[in-house]
Amino acid sequence: MSQPLSAVPTRALAGTIRVPGDKSISHRALLLGALAIGRTRITGLLEADDVMVTAKAVAALGAEIRHLNGAIEVTGQGVGGLRAPTENLDFGNSGTGSRLMLGVVAGHDMQARFTGDASLRRRPMNRVLNPLRRMGLSLAGDDRETLPLTVQGTPDLVPVVYPLPVASAQVKSAVLLAGLHAPGCTTVIEPLPTRDHTERMLTHFGAEISVRDQDDGGRAVSVRGDAELAGASITIPGDPSSAAFAIAAALICEGSDIVLKGVLMNPTRSGFIETVHEMGGDVEMLDLRLEGGEPVADLRVRAGALQSVDVCAARAPSMIDEYPVLAVLAAFAQGETRMRGLAELRVKESDRLTATAAGLAASGVETVIDGDDLVVIGKGSVPGGGMVETHMDHRIAMAFLTLGLGAEQPVTVDDIGMIATSFPSFVPLMTKVGAQFR
Ligand code: S3P
Repeated sequence: MSQPLSAVPTRALAGTIRVPGDKSISHRALLLGALAIGRTRITGLLEADDVMVTAKAVAALGAEIRHLNGAIEVTGQGVGGLRAPTENLDFGNSGTGSRLMLGVVAGHDMQARFTGDASLRRRPMNRVLNPLRRMGLSLAGDDRETLPLTVQGTPDLVPVVYPLPVASAQVKSAVLLAGLHAPGCTTVIEPLPTRDHTERMLTHFGAEISVRDQDDGGRAVSVRGDAELAGASITIPGDPSSAAFAIAAALICEGSDIVLKGVLMNPTRSGFIETVHEMGGDVEMLDLRLEGGEPVADLRVRAGALQSVDVCAARAPSMIDEYPVLAVLAAFAQGETRMRGLAELRVKESDRLTATAAGLAASGVETVIDGDDLVVIGKGSVPGGGMVETHMDHRIAMAFLTLGLGAEQPVTVDDIGMIATSFPSFVPLMTKVGAQFR
């Protein structure tokens, strides 16, 4: 049963909120906790559907997970020490959980069947299967490139040097996780820097990681195999991809002044804030600090006029999940915003390029999809008044609810059910700062 919701034009958002823990870091904390020897204590884990399916999967592979005094404790089995699951691993909507887990299973002598919801079953898996098969993973049954898939891992993986055909942190991470099990060094060469949480966290758990910048702007990341990881303590900062909705809402709702506490400021994730600054958005970084090895800040956001911007393709990896909400901001800016090189948006939880353009059109905003670029014609204000199709995509739902808060007329999204995959408290938290929904 779909659950529609309307966002009502709202003024002057005010107050202080903390967005939930970072989704990418949460998945990695569970997976590395399962591969470590001993106990890993995770504070601030994102308790959303996507992360819960990863938790369930690591438990099915023999790691113990329990709630302990407001934290999550994972008791790992060591690299290579997990056991074959007795049931299918159902990753729901989670591309990250499924792709990273393929890298983990690759290094174990086990067979596992991976599946997911209708959206995940449409998403490309060959991008992870290609390098993992080169290392020794085999596919049982048909040569499929999408879930459901049954894979057979091996303790005899071989290390590879793998240049990524697409700048994907999930593929990089899957190969590095498999590389933990292989003898010698496994290297991934990325064409542009992608989020580096796997590398940071592997170092934190005691693995040997080296990173070399390439002359062409890319990066080579190596992990030494036959690794031993030791259980560690992890504090997960606020998710900048979730914060982006609150930031955008405060920028477009006249008179707003809000503070977001403890948001991750990792440079491989901060493309949205950089772009907002280029648009003239008032986002002030307060108390920039290091927490658990990641840079974190409080963000004060005040409403104000925005200008259009030209976003280069090289910035895409550092804000890949923020394009739907950036496109919303562009609609409130004055002038033509071009976001370049968005081919990857077509293979997210939905075809986000098409869904974003369609949502804007339904809200009275002119857009053009020009090859892999999205062009939004900003007029400084947005009529709204439409019904937006979310295509089972949490970020499309939140982006257009955000749009509705700043528009002239309410905006309805057809289903908010999927918001629970990444930001279950979106509606109550936004309501706390004054947003109105019905
Ligand atoms: C993620 C990487 C990105 C991003 C996704 C999370 C990760 O995907 O879109 O939401 O945690 O590694 P790609 O690796 O496909 O770019």
